[in-house]
Amino acid sequence: MVNDIVIFDTTLRDGEQSPGASMNMEEKVKIALQLEKLGVDVIEAGFAASSKGDFEAISRIAEVLERTTVCSLARAIPSDIEQAAKATQQAKRRRIHTFIATSPIHMQYKLKLSPDAVMKKAIEAVQYAKTLCDDVEFSCEDALRSDMGFLREIIPAVIEAGASTINLPDTVGYRLPTEIGAFVAQVHSFVKDSAMLSMHCHNDLGLAVANSIAAIGSGVRQVECTINGLGERAGNTALEELVMIIKTRKELFSVDTHINTKEIYPTSKLVADITGICPQPNKAIVGKNAFAHESGIHQDGILKHRETYEIIKPSDIGMVESTSLVLGKHSGRAAFKDKIADLGFSLNDEELQAAFTRFKHLCDSKKEVFDDDIRAIIGEETTHIPQVFTLSLVQVSACSNAKYCAAVSVVRDGIELSDSALGNGAVDSVLKSIDRVSGIAGTLKDYKVESVTSGKDALAKVVVKVEFAQANRAVIGHGIDVDTMSATAKAYISALNSYLSMRELINNK
Ligand code: KIV
Ligand code: ZN
Repeated sequence: MVNDIVIFDTTLRDGEQSPGASMNMEEKVKIALQLEKLGVDVIEAGFAASSKGDFEAISRIAEVLERTTVCSLARAIPSDIEQAAKATQQAKRRRIHTFIATSPIHMQYKLKLSPDAVMKKAIEAVQYAKTLCDDVEFSCEDALRSDMGFLREIIPAVIEAGASTINLPDTVGYRLPTEIGAFVAQVHSFVKDSAMLSMHCHNDLGLAVANSIAAIGSGVRQVECTINGLGERAGNTALEELVMIIKTRKELFSVDTHINTKEIYPTSKLVADITGICPQPNKAIVGKNAFAHESGIHQDGILKHRETYEIIKPSDIGMVESTSLVLGKHSGRAAFKDKIADLGFSLNDEELQAAFTRFKHLCDSKKEVFDDDIRAIIGEETTHIPQVFTLSLVQVSACSNAKYCAAVSVVRDGIELSDSALGNGAVDSVLKSIDRVSGIAGTLKDYKVESVTSGKDALAKVVVKVEFAQANRAVIGHGIDVDTMSATAKAYISALNSYLSMRELINNK
């Protein structure tokens, strides 16, 4: 146990700071449950004092997780620490993570505080956090540009005040692996066993994973990561890469992790679906091409002996053949239920019935139904966001002067409402019709369409990012359908429903 690396996942906090990666409460809870399944040790579920939405999401995650430690970030100020303590109150295991910047540039220009004042605030914050929670982590923000002399004073002082984990962020992703190794070794020489050292790397120079590995080599026993390397600016250490490096090159490490690597791909996919941020195709481990062999020589080698060109098996990260044909028009409920269990989902009766009905409809318009089609259906049918609006019909036609006309019907409170609009293109006309029929105007910030599987009749999956007037962040919506305009309308309505549920949550607080 002493030699195991604590995997601290901050997808829901630093990851959510990725531009455009905001998630609603239900999506955060879904991700947290999947992270628990993945086997992470600590989940930083948010920054409780930053918004009501974050506070609510942390509280809900604290209620539902069984084994994983739930943590909230807090600045080194009493009100933040109180919010973090309150939000994590219900968790079986909980942590408060408090931080203050320790580098000269941050202390002088951002905090406008002297090192002595920073030291005082850090000690008081940790002491206070310790009165509210047993497990306290302290971060020296911008540690890797801090003066070692100051760190030698502040780190022992906060350990004395009650911090059991000391996190060393390379906040601006500035350092190289050799520098990180030497830096951690120095800190380790005076911290010894008095606290666990943690590394938090940013990827501005593309070195976050390499730097985290170097830190492990010098004595760090916690690494802060995110799924798909999401995070502020260029992101954080990618969990999937770090974990697979340790697993693949285990002869070089005296440490292991508690991660169930077969849950890596499902977790990556869930986070990509929810945030709308897909890993680039050549991204290590989880990119679409990570296991694709294009050259004839490579394909020949793989066929003769897999290890000629493959150091990781796709199944090691839970990537299963997405093209496996599953069920057809004549498949019954029992076969559908078995398939769902095979794919690792557990649905209640109501969700199962909704997914089965949807599957039957799909069979009417699509000859072959694949595993990924089923996954997409389940993703849509298991949402717990109140469906204030549901789509009942969309029709689009081309008019003269490059204009398009859309007619849309939606159902609200059992009443069908219809309207139509002209637009500069099919998508524009559909979205304008929805704005008119709902009475709520949104601005489309991003639009992506991709096919769920292959074939001319493949399901279209549309992800939209929409800004609504009173929301301070863009909201993401998803829609799938064999018809791309229906998928577009569903995605936009799903963003609208998500926005309405967030507004309701905030107004009720
Ligand atoms: O990058 C950073 O310094 C952080 C801290 C708040 C831990 O995210
Ligand atoms: Zn960070």
